[in-house]
Amino acid sequence: EIPIRKICCIGAGYVGGPTCSVLALKCPDIQVTVVDRNELRINQWNSEKLPIYEPGLEEIVKQCRGKNLFFSTDMAPALKEADLIFISVNTPTKTFGLGKGRAADLKFVESCARLIAEVCDRSKIVVEKSTVPVRSAASIVNVLKANTKPGVSYQVLSNPEFLAEGTAVNDLTNPDRVLIGGEESEEGKKAIRALSWVYRHWVSADKIIEMNTWSSELSKLAANAFLAQRISSINAISAVCEATGADVSEVAKAIGLDSRLGPKFLQASVGWGGSCFQKDILNLVYISESLNLTSVAAYWQQVIDMNEYQKSRFGERIVQSMFNTITDKHIAILGFAFKKNTGDTRESPAIHVAKHLLEEGAFLHIFDPKVEKAQILLDLAQWDEESSISIHTDPYEAAKGTHALVVCTEWDQFTVTLTYDYQRMYDSMLKPAFVFDGRKILDHSALAKIGFHVETIGKRHGQGFQDHNWAGTNGI
Ligand code: NAD
Ligand code: UDX
Repeated sequence: EIPIRKICCIGAGYVGGPTCSVLALKCPDIQVTVVDRNELRINQWNSEKLPIYEPGLEEIVKQCRGKNLFFSTDMAPALKEADLIFISVNTPTKTFGLGKGRAADLKFVESCARLIAEVCDRSKIVVEKSTVPVRSAASIVNVLKANTKPGVSYQVLSNPEFLAEGTAVNDLTNPDRVLIGGEESEEGKKAIRALSWVYRHWVSADKIIEMNTWSSELSKLAANAFLAQRISSINAISAVCEATGADVSEVAKAIGLDSRLGPKFLQASVGWGGSCFQKDILNLVYISESLNLTSVAAYWQQVIDMNEYQKSRFGERIVQSMFNTITDKHIAILGFAFKKNTGDTRESPAIHVAKHLLEEGAFLHIFDPKVEKAQILLDLAQWDEESSISIHTDPYEAAKGTHALVVCTEWDQFTVTLTYDYQRMYDSMLKPAFVFDGRKILDHSALAKIGFHVETIGKRHGQGFQDHNWAGTNGI
């Protein structure tokens, strides 16, 4: 058996950081070093303020850091010492060249493989944790083999990560399953057993699934595609609801009670976001096209197209409801993260909506409980802070003097229980005061009682103006 005493993880991002923190917590007998070439990120992991926000993460890092959990930019020694290496670097969509806009860019993964081969002088298990196109492990093996030092050999495993942001610690602590793909040779099986042993510190054996490498790689892409497809499906239904008077929440409930379908991931929204869904489905589309499976590619592409449609539809509805013009109007955006309990804005639908409103000439007052001001300004870099955007740390300040509130993230603070004093916001706003609930989380009748004109996803035009055809678009 291969003993695992030291683990090195390349990539101290949203996956590498939380995964290794939980690993260190659950495996006090293993020393875990997370390395990254981004010095700022590593410094943040070693500081009081971590580079990412995840509920429960800070406590774990504080407990393990300096004991069996280390963050470093000094990659070579950590790689040399390790028995097992996780590659957990980003695999973004290519922005130029062959497959531009769709294929995954594996340059960071490849450079990890090259560095490992260059510095390591004894055999290792290399684990592909990044999400990669099916058969990527073969490329890693090739790069390693072509550069290996004499007497050294590598076993490459696929071990995709299924954590979702905002619930990463819980997902890592109680995973639905852990996939380990590897070679069917004796050496391959030994490597699988070694990684299994690591997970067995806290995951029961029945949840650790061994399979061939390609199945493991493809399962990750397929799982994300299925999840996003469910949201695109309910969002497609939400458009039908808005046009007919059906309520998508009622329809979702009815669908979800079918035990074959289940209730999860049926929350209609302004659209899905996050760093994974879009990139991974594009990747699946590209792979399918490359394999001449054009119908398969078109099928999955539609999941993305429906999401673009949903985001645009929401933006258009805001403009139409506000008498077809928002030029020079002030609009508060509540929530900028792509989902609650994270400060991450990658592919956030809020960015899409904000750009739509800015292009129509609105002035935006943006508030999010966790997203950093600098990040919002970066995401909306084409617009000027003074003349088009202001960022607030207080929701009441954001709402003051605006014509409308637009909810883009389902933060609990905003929700049904009306944690915020919406009367206070209403009193400080211009009239008629609008609320556009892109997440279906507010208490719409309570808001209507206050006097708001409420519009939400998947439900026909709200109270107040429903009898007037202001924009000529009031359903059918
Ligand atoms: P990230 O951008 O947050 O982190 C990646 C880190 O890798 C960065 O800090 C970067 O500096 C570092 N890096 C890149 N190349 C490097 C190199 N050659 N040497 C050293 N460091 C290097 O990305 P992430 O969100 O953690 O995602 C990582 C992978 O995990 C991706 O393939 C992604 O698809 C997958 N994944 C992400 C999530 C998620 O929720 N974010 C969930 C499951 C899987
Ligand atoms: C996703 C997968 O869930 C996770 O397994 C994978 O490892 C990484 O990608 P993540 O993107 O972090 O995780 O969050 P997720 O909870 O899947 O939400 C993605 C987007 O869909 C968010 O914008 C969320 O608000 C939206 N969503 C989710 C909906 O609009 N409706 C739903 O019912 C669920």
